[in-house]
Amino acid sequence: MSVTDHNLVPENLDAFWMPFTGQRQYKENPRFIVSARGMHYTDSQGHETLDCSAGLWCVNAGHYREPINQAIAEQLAKLDFAHNFGSGHPLVFHYADRLVQHVPAPLNHVFFTNSGSESVDTALKIALAYHRKNGQAGRQRLIGREKGYHGMGFGGLSVGGLVKNRNPFGLLLPGTDHIRQTHGLEANRFAKGLPPEGADLALDLERLVDLHGADAIAAVIVEPIGGAGGVHLPPIGYLQTLRAICDEHGILLIFDEVITGFGRVGACTAAERFGVIPDIMTTAKGITNATIPMGAVFVSDQIFERFMDSELPGVELNHGYTYSGHPVACAAGMATLDIYEQEALFDRPKALQDTWQENAMRLRDLPNVIDVRCFALLGAVEVTPRAGAPMARGAEIAKRCYEKGAWVRPIGDSIVLSPPLIISESEIATIFNIIGEAITETL
Ligand SMILES: Cc1ncc(COP(=O)(O)O)c(C=O)c1O
Repeated sequence: MSVTDHNLVPENLDAFWMPFTGQRQYKENPRFIVSARGMHYTDSQGHETLDCSAGLWCVNAGHYREPINQAIAEQLAKLDFAHNFGSGHPLVFHYADRLVQHVPAPLNHVFFTNSGSESVDTALKIALAYHRKNGQAGRQRLIGREKGYHGMGFGGLSVGGLVKNRNPFGLLLPGTDHIRQTHGLEANRFAKGLPPEGADLALDLERLVDLHGADAIAAVIVEPIGGAGGVHLPPIGYLQTLRAICDEHGILLIFDEVITGFGRVGACTAAERFGVIPDIMTTAKGITNATIPMGAVFVSDQIFERFMDSELPGVELNHGYTYSGHPVACAAGMATLDIYEQEALFDRPKALQDTWQENAMRLRDLPNVIDVRCFALLGAVEVTPRAGAPMARGAEIAKRCYEKGAWVRPIGDSIVLSPPLIISESEIATIFNIIGEAITETL
């Protein structure tokens, strides 16, 4: 297959209802991606771009990693599928055992899903069922945070805090509430690394404890670093304060590490990087380098043992998916871990952090730039919205970047960045040069 094979381009675009897309506009002027290697995508016109988003925060080891492809092919030839309902195949046990060694203790047990959204809904359900098993069935409230993103299942949506995602879908789950968001403090603009101000925003959880009563609250879920809301970094000390309040009131803390998991922040997990250990942790995306859909929910010994600690035989948790622990996904995950370990990819965001921040901060004085956020290999450059046309400036900048060879993702009027962890220093410079030019040319 040639990467410029125009026969790949479909004639009828009508049948596919595209996710999260303004598809009437897209279909008027479509762009088709036909190939990916390493740091680069190629479209059907033969135009090459740097992947500045690692797919959608998921291709952490870069594109087209042959050992992963090979592991998938070999697994398909051996055992294409076997479910894990009252049965099991060896690989899923090996894989679970290996995975838990990459996350902090006591998160020593893992429940497999197929996506971040399923991981989040699974985590929320485990939290509710745990309290019930513990004789605290009254703990039913689930708390999220404004501007949080936890996928598009009804559970994740209900604790999520993005109005455009929530608003079309009615009342959502009853009994959810939200702590205040951490973004937008004047003192934190252009902060290099974690923002200095705002740790006390975590005290907002006390407000909800006062309002609902601690014995009515099951869990709090936050992204340690907010991604899909526009890259919102936790103020220094914020996550520690949240952990302390949860401990004081018997509330479970869930970290949604669907984006931050598997190396993005310079450790396998943000929990490890920040030294704050949740009770439950959700992951997906980078777990298989995005080759095969998979998610994983890690739970603490205390929670797991509460479910196992029963005289009664039978199913401990009535929950699962046909493809929980799919053998091909496990094979992809194993091969992905091999690459992460052999290439020490989880260390790269720390090693590249200074270069990343210096390059990002070069943009701070450009026209319309109102904030630059950067930590590890994550970042966002925010521009002022055009009067009466929010998101238009961000979209135009992103379009220019694409033409110049960098595929970036606009979220609102922020250009968000999360490149594959294999990125080189010169590719970092290229990305920020391109974004800088695009911002300067966009009025
Ligand atoms: C923090 C977080 N949670 C959950 C999800 C949902 O993941 P998925 O799209 O795989 O369902 C995402 C997706 O970006 C995410 O960023």
